[in-house]
Amino acid sequence: KQRVFSGIQPSGNLHLGNYLGALKNWVALQDEYENYFCIVDLHAITVPQDPKVLRQKIREVAAIYLASGIDPEKSVVFRQSRVSGHAELAWLLNCVARFGELSRMTQFKDKAQKGGAESASVGLYDYPVLMAADILLYNAHLVPVGEDQRQHLELTRTLARRFNNQHGETFVVPEPMILETGARVMALDDPTSKMSKSSPVQGSYVAILDEPDVIRRKIRRAKTDSGSEVTASPDKPAITNLLDIYAATTSRTVAELEGEYEGRGYGDLKKDLAEAVVEALAPVRERALALLDAPKELDDLLEAGAEKARGAAHRALGDARTKMGLD
Ligand code: TYM
Repeated sequence: KQRVFSGIQPSGNLHLGNYLGALKNWVALQDEYENYFCIVDLHAITVPQDPKVLRQKIREVAAIYLASGIDPEKSVVFRQSRVSGHAELAWLLNCVARFGELSRMTQFKDKAQKGGAESASVGLYDYPVLMAADILLYNAHLVPVGEDQRQHLELTRTLARRFNNQHGETFVVPEPMILETGARVMALDDPTSKMSKSSPVQGSYVAILDEPDVIRRKIRRAKTDSGSEVTASPDKPAITNLLDIYAATTSRTVAELEGEYEGRGYGDLKKDLAEAVVEALAPVRERALALLDAPKELDDLLEAGAEKARGAAHRALGDARTKMGLD
């Protein structure tokens, strides 16, 4: 079986973009592949985190994975920081990655710009190399992610190829898997910016753990465009976003939905979309809250996952060390 690797940072509130761009697709791949779904806590600490909050968020992400349909019998669910190979391989890859290519990463440039590049952590700068290590450590073939990770995946491929050229065939060069709908969910209050966990504006995202009425209210208040026709086009970024979310949530196409809403208004679209999103997320929320009531079981499950991941990581790391002369 080919392998799948992906992960989500336990920072902020997981939202509809994370669900449609990542989680929903992971669940769909589960039977076909050997899967590693990681809670990337080492990535989360590249920006300051409150340790108490982080501890809770880690459990929350684990609960959401399982509640979304990730089955620990079929997929390895674990925390990045519990498998030391991630950090170790990241160091080896640091010595293969180039300063120039990391400097060109747009996510770093965006994030560093906000706080000032001078005071950004070195970890934030090195973030994409740790991400490459995550993927290459399991020799994953496929990495299901949202559009915003495309550049990081491209770097991962570059590092795998370069390592293979310098030291001989070692790593699988992974492919990103980015779907046509739901891969770039935009903020509800501003369709020009991505729906984001770190947004201070609650109304900008639907959290996976939002109550049904909160979801309805947020979608009712979502920004729309001028005009009244329900069509996806560049001059209607807000409606395009709502249609994209609707299509991804219900596994239909935008064209199909445009047909269905011909002659109907934005209000109808929003009402139906809200119900579709509630229908998708309400069961996830209920299951996640139930799982969070038993934190010890979640912790045990994550630890069992880490044990399996350590076994799988051992070989690729040993191989990379040997090739570099560190055996
Ligand atoms: P993170 O935690 O920001 O997001 C997790 C996943 O959700 C996707 N995503 C979105 N998809 C659609 N619309 C959005 N608005 C949206 N926002 C986020 C992301 O593309 C991602 O798939 N660097 C990664 C975590 C990571 C990782 C990895 C992923 C670390 N190591 C190895 C894959 C493989 C990140 O910050 O994701």
